[in-house]
Amino acid sequence: MNNMMTNEPTAETLLEWDRNHVLHPWHEMSEWRGYDNLLVDTAKGIFLYDGEGNKFLDGPGGMWCVQIGYDRPEMAKAISDQVMKLPYASPFTKATEPSAVLAKRMIEFSPGDLNTVFFTTGGSTAVDTAIRAMHYMNNSLGRPDKKIVLAREKGYHGSTYLASTVSGKERSVTKFDAEQRLVRFLPNINPYIRPDGMDEAAWCDEKVADLENLIAEVGADNIGAYIAEPILCSGGVIVPPKGYHKRTLDVCRAHDILYISDEVVTGFGRLGHWFSSEEVFGIVPDMITCAKGLTSGYLPLGACLISDAVMERMTGAGAAPFSNGYTYSAHPVSCAAALKNIEIFEDENLLAHVRSVTPQFQARLRSLTKYPIIGDARGEGLVGCVECRLTKDGSRFEDEQKIGARLDEVCQDMGLLVRPLINMCVFSPPLIITEKEIDLMFDILEAAIQKVSVEFEK
Ligand SMILES: Cc1ncc(COP(=O)(O)O)c(C=O)c1O
Repeated sequence: MNNMMTNEPTAETLLEWDRNHVLHPWHEMSEWRGYDNLLVDTAKGIFLYDGEGNKFLDGPGGMWCVQIGYDRPEMAKAISDQVMKLPYASPFTKATEPSAVLAKRMIEFSPGDLNTVFFTTGGSTAVDTAIRAMHYMNNSLGRPDKKIVLAREKGYHGSTYLASTVSGKERSVTKFDAEQRLVRFLPNINPYIRPDGMDEAAWCDEKVADLENLIAEVGADNIGAYIAEPILCSGGVIVPPKGYHKRTLDVCRAHDILYISDEVVTGFGRLGHWFSSEEVFGIVPDMITCAKGLTSGYLPLGACLISDAVMERMTGAGAAPFSNGYTYSAHPVSCAAALKNIEIFEDENLLAHVRSVTPQFQARLRSLTKYPIIGDARGEGLVGCVECRLTKDGSRFEDEQKIGARLDEVCQDMGLLVRPLINMCVFSPPLIITEKEIDLMFDILEAAIQKVSVEFEK
């Protein structure tokens, strides 16, 4: 039905069209055509609004991406100016100012000798590119068997065939196929699940040993790369034990296994730095993948940064094209948006802002374990997760899932969006969030936890 005054479709009509004709990512298929998504209409700062003026604090920051917040006229102008100047150029044969300048800026931020940027359309294609670069390198070096990727349980690397193949979330597989010959998974590294009485250092030893043992089992000659998010965000904001990153990098180096650091979420300010691999975790990987915060979600763009050492090993063995790439690689309008995004970060000192509000954010987050239904509250920088737990051994998982879903519902009724993840809620608000807004976010979350706790006691 239409709105009589404006002749525009009403909210109900839009939702009906959405239900009937749009298949959303990760949609629960048993609920096909029988669900309601929140119909968002406008956004400002860190808030989203529906058509009736209801306001929601955007806890997930879009999808871990809207770093600079919404409603930025300067971003709109940069995008519009680039559209008018040069809306498209083939990345296969043309160079453009926005992509060249952006690449130069990105390598200023990147660690070590990561001096080459391959632009993609998002995070999944950045991960595909990194793995394909490893394939290309090892074929060039005459090591066709050195191709298996070591990945981790609970890791998420995207939704293309290859990126989903190396994703270790149970729910990534479901009824889709994955190319299992290409990957081996390491067990969950979450310190929260370590046995009672074991300290974090011993847990770290065990997790590093898992990697060494898997390499011994599979054979280093068959393993091309290890892929790891610095923090496993979609898997429930799992922060590896201290020292784990450096030790796993050393193990990879000892076996000539490339280390791919997937910074699709942790890059571009989420942890208070452009990239977190070196500045937060002290490692210089062979490749870094990024997307999301690169444009603050205003336009799609991703990138794979590659070290000189890898580039040299790819290029030294005779002529063959790097036959990987997309019509929209290095899209000039997306690159212009990324450059404006970086300018806003710098003008507003956003990285320093994140570092300065992190202690407050993390303190409020961690205090939530005082509620019995919250088993763990963890995070780093401006990303956090609460895990609903009634027992540590998972024996009441079904009830815990219900609490997680209910918490999402109650938060939304109270004006806060959180990202539901089975029995967890995660948040990664826009980086511009102020101290007052952090308090508002956690005040709502606490009120929701209190309400759900009572319901659950009944
Ligand atoms: C760590 C990580 N890598 C890759 C991806 C895939 O990115 P995209 O959805 O842009 O393809 C995601 C998405 O959430 C991610 O969290």
